[in-house]
Amino acid sequence: MKAHHEDRARIYERAFLLSPEKRNQVMKLWEVHKYGVDSFSDPDYVCIYGMPPAEWYGRGVRLLARTTVECVRDSLGELIGKHVESVIHNIAATTKFIVVDPFAGSCNSLYWILRYVRNSRGIAFEIDGTIFEITKQNLSSLDTDIELVNSDYKLLLRNYRVSVDYFIIVYVAPPWGDALSEISGLDLRRTKPPIAEIVDYVDDVYKEHPILWVTQVHQTVDPVSLADLKKRFDWSALRIYDINIEGMKHGVLLGTSRWKPSTRPPMTGFSRAST
Ligand SMILES: C[S@@+](CC[C@H](N)C(=O)[O-])C[C@H]1O[C@@H](n2cnc3c(N)ncnc32)[C@H](O)[C@@H]1O
Repeated sequence: MKAHHEDRARIYERAFLLSPEKRNQVMKLWEVHKYGVDSFSDPDYVCIYGMPPAEWYGRGVRLLARTTVECVRDSLGELIGKHVESVIHNIAATTKFIVVDPFAGSCNSLYWILRYVRNSRGIAFEIDGTIFEITKQNLSSLDTDIELVNSDYKLLLRNYRVSVDYFIIVYVAPPWGDALSEISGLDLRRTKPPIAEIVDYVDDVYKEHPILWVTQVHQTVDPVSLADLKKRFDWSALRIYDINIEGMKHGVLLGTSRWKPSTRPPMTGFSRAST
């Protein structure tokens, strides 16, 4: 009880939820609300899987303190899902999509991409055993097609090859660690692991497929690291979404391998990039 009272007196901010004492604790509903109020003046800040906290908590969904901070909230996830759909919109209606998330966390970003991408299913990897168990339980109460694997993505990704007629979408959101600097923004070479290392590894596994890369970024990205990543793609586009306050906006760098999006009416297939 003592710890309970002490926690109620705390300010529920990012640093506290990510602290060694708190990060691996399952959040109670009042704590999710308090984090929203203390950090964003909004008790319903942590909407996930299309639900406000009271609803998802009531359905048995749970989050660790660290995942409460690290997860993509509905407002961002839905924007990403719609954006991804707009880029693959002109690909033939019969095309089947696999969406790979090597850094699952709550799977809420993957959940939203799957909601907007037709004929899709998801494969997600989560290295942390506790987060894996909680997310697996959460997903069991949702209507979504995600195979969640408890592993470092590099160890088991090669087991998840698919036939060449599948189009692959990869959502790239590793822990940022200390990669975000107040001065130069997010250095894509310093995430854990670096973004380019992830792209190179996953691209080698799916080298026979057209791929759409969706990399989560901060509104300020270190320009050298951005240029280094963009040169790997046949086409790329950076978009920052107009949610969150200035200085805390997020967005995505979209990139493609072995195809380019078309603005023409729906095609009979995807247009392979000329090399
Ligand atoms: C930034 S969070 C992802 C948040 C997620 N997009 C969401 O919406 O909840 C990164 C997650 O990747 C996991 N992770 C870190 N390194 C990993 C690895 N090598 N393989 C698989 N999972 C990893 C972490 O445990 C953490 O849960």
